[in-house]
Amino acid sequence: MIIDTARLWLRPVLLDDAPAMVALDADPRVMRFVNGGSPTPRAQIVDWTIPRARAEYTAHGTGIRTLILKDTAEFAGWIELRRPRHSSRTELELSYRLPHHLWGRGLATEAAIAILRAAFTEHRAQRVFAGTSPQNAASRKVLQKIGMRRVPTLLDDDYEVEYEVLRHHWEMHTATTSRIDLVTAAGVDTAATTRRGAVVGRHRLPDALAGA
Ligand SMILES: CC(C)(COP(=O)(O)OP(=O)(O)OC[C@H]1O[C@@H](n2cnc3c(N)ncnc32)[C@H](O)[C@@H]1OP(=O)(O)O)[C@@H](O)C(=O)NCCC(=O)NCCS
Repeated sequence: MIIDTARLWLRPVLLDDAPAMVALDADPRVMRFVNGGSPTPRAQIVDWTIPRARAEYTAHGTGIRTLILKDTAEFAGWIELRRPRHSSRTELELSYRLPHHLWGRGLATEAAIAILRAAFTEHRAQRVFAGTSPQNAASRKVLQKIGMRRVPTLLDDDYEVEYEVLRHHWEMHTATTSRIDLVTAAGVDTAATTRRGAVVGRHRLPDALAGA
């Protein structure tokens, strides 16, 4: 199923996305707070990242979703809801990565609002969490804008900080956010999810959504 927001389609990742994902990770600005700026080997993306995400989607409906700009059908990065391997409760880890030329337009926030809604409605999560570098101001801002809170820890958090949102916090947050946020988030509703070839508003799904 495809998730639809005001400016984006979020569709399950495909092997065809590999070249765009390799190029994304080849930009040191993108990878700065992920691993210090190193590119991801193509083989890792082709042999591990995408197959694992496809398997998770098949089994649970979660995993990496490729972001596609509606206006141009351009690859706009990805967003992920990942099930932790070992967890005693229903929780999902959120992460995202966008190409540098698309930063600062509110796209990560828009995609994250939609995926968070899917986490709590479709996947019935009790908690969604995200880890990021303390220096990653943009990512921390996104997490705050979507209603996540810093998790207090006793550990030294020079290396990573964790944010979370619990189901009841999310319900309160969505009830009090502006109408604009709610309209954006509404893109994930069942009525707005669709399949290839269908028309979403004034947009027809392009070939970039093939196989989703
Ligand atoms: C983190 C990332 C996804 C954000 O994407 P984006 O589409 O630019 O995010 P948005 O535009 O929705 O929001 C970014 C917010 O951070 C703010 N911001 C950006 N850089 C900032 C900085 N250096 N200091 C403070 N705030 C900053 C922006 O002003 C914006 O806030 P605003 O809407 O209140 O103005 C993007 O920078 C990225 O892909 N980074 C590389 C990968 C990464 O670090 N992923 C997270 C790892 S956990």
